[in-house]
Amino acid sequence: MDLDKALKGRRSIRSYLDKRVPEELIRQIIEAATFAPSAKNAQQWRFTVLTGNAKKELTDLFRRELELVCERIGRENMGSSFASCGIMEEAPVVIMVWNAGKMGWETEIHSVAAAIQNMLLKAYDLGLGTLWIGDILYALKALKQHFGKPWKLTAAVAVGWPARIPEPRPRKSVDEVTEFLS
Ligand SMILES: Cc1cc2nc3c(=O)[nH]c(=O)nc-3n(C[C@H](O)[C@H](O)[C@H](O)COP(=O)(O)O)c2cc1C
Repeated sequence: MDLDKALKGRRSIRSYLDKRVPEELIRQIIEAATFAPSAKNAQQWRFTVLTGNAKKELTDLFRRELELVCERIGRENMGSSFASCGIMEEAPVVIMVWNAGKMGWETEIHSVAAAIQNMLLKAYDLGLGTLWIGDILYALKALKQHFGKPWKLTAAVAVGWPARIPEPRPRKSVDEVTEFLS
């Protein structure tokens, strides 16, 4: 796919068809992630691919935790977290993305984020939809405990065949976000 088409055509997909995604396609998406740049080429990204019961266990836990947080802080402070949980329930695949960096450098998270962007673009190239989900941070401790990994949980990425492709979100122009100094 033409790079500009991929960069400008990709959307966050929040509605998925009830249709299986072959593991081979997920492997291609993760392979794309592994080609991202990383600080000191440390490649500290790690992935846990969830489908079926493993995904259900995770989303059930996430929903229970959100309800607990909601009791504490009030529904008006829950942002898009319940909606994100619903999207994870609907998507046939959820990929948990970990940061296994041990140095605690800020650049470690940058590297993992670069890998996630590669995943989204590769998935789009394959005709798949994705959603980058930061709302898992509402239940970070419980989700991390559930997996028992020594790594930092960074994001979840929902993957599936899009049921609805939204209009593009507005973008700031180059001039709005850039200063040229000489
Ligand atoms: C770090 C990060 C976290 C995000 N977390 C969520 C989320 O939890 N739930 C959600 O619906 N969208 C989430 N998004 C998607 C953004 O809302 C979306 O990328 C943005 O609105 C622009 O839309 P587009 O991706 O269709 O261009 C996240 C995006 C990023 C980069």
